[in-house]
Amino acid sequence: MGYIEAVGIIIANPECEDVRSLEGTAPTKKPCVPIIAVPTTSGTAAEVTINYVITDVERKRRFVCVDPHDIPVIAVVDPEMMASMPKGLIASTGMDAHTHAIEGYTTKAAWEMTDMFHLKAIKIIFRSLRGAVENTKEGLEGMALGQYTAGMGFSNVGLGIAPSMAHTLGAVYDTPHGVACAMMLPIVMEYSAACTGEKYREIARAMGVANVDAMSQEEYRQAAVEAVRKLSADVGIPSKPPVLKEEDLPFLAESAYADACRPGHSKDTNVEELKGLFRKLM
Ligand SMILES: NC(=O)c1ccc[n+]([C@@H]2O[C@H](COP(=O)([O-])OP(=O)(O)OC[C@H]3O[C@@H](n4cnc5c(N)ncnc54)[C@H](O)[C@@H]3O)[C@@H](O)[C@H]2O)c1
Ligand SMILES: [Zn+2]
Repeated sequence: MGYIEAVGIIIANPECEDVRSLEGTAPTKKPCVPIIAVPTTSGTAAEVTINYVITDVERKRRFVCVDPHDIPVIAVVDPEMMASMPKGLIASTGMDAHTHAIEGYTTKAAWEMTDMFHLKAIKIIFRSLRGAVENTKEGLEGMALGQYTAGMGFSNVGLGIAPSMAHTLGAVYDTPHGVACAMMLPIVMEYSAACTGEKYREIARAMGVANVDAMSQEEYRQAAVEAVRKLSADVGIPSKPPVLKEEDLPFLAESAYADACRPGHSKDTNVEELKGLFRKLM
């Protein structure tokens, strides 16, 4: 979807044909040519968001473009179009959507309306993803709806550093986006917990954790992180990539810091701390 949106944008805005000038808030003047979007994966919500992602092979970067001009005129979100996905792709794209829901809920700009979308998305995705991986009708329908609902939220407020770090892992090691999100999400949740008030209690509740109201802050935060780790493991995603080299850490951290999703993160970060978070994958 990202590439198609970029093509549609450049047809309407030929002055952006260098592509790199589209990074971040894209300086386009005209809406992209009309797109009818039919997602065949259940993760990105690109059919409904103001974002698209471009891979810059030469510079080993995956960069995010933010532009309301890219929104398709029609989105056909049909779980039957997603039913041919292999298990691993359902799992990874599902964890991409779960990352959107959790980071959208905790991002700095979050507010009541987007909380509504994100909490509902966390709930739907959590109850659907295991079934979707087993190809159940309810599971696939839930994931089609859940990823879309997350997109309706985060497109309005942004995300955080889990996708920033995932974009970088994808660009450098070719790690599939959803797998990289799934690896980063619990690490990032632990790192950011202190800046999220009582939000992890609601995240844990949405994932069906029992008795959250009787838990201390430390307990419900831990429970939320563990529920995410368990979901990811249950759908077969490893917790670490096979290759991650110490000498790559400076580039990885700088690239993640430069990512358009990073400034919205619940906790202010820096290149050194991002290096430390990447190191947890080794
Ligand atoms: N809102 C956004 O703009 C947004 C959000 C998150 C991620 N992204 C970006 O989206 C990209 C990932 O997109 P994706 O997760 O949809 O995967 P993808 O489009 O990269 O597809 C992954 C692979 O699965 C195949 N495939 C797709 N649908 C299939 C189906 N139904 N059956 C069998 N095979 C199928 C594709 O041909 C491809 O080989 C990344 O570049 C990521 O950074 C964008
Ligand atoms: Zn994503």
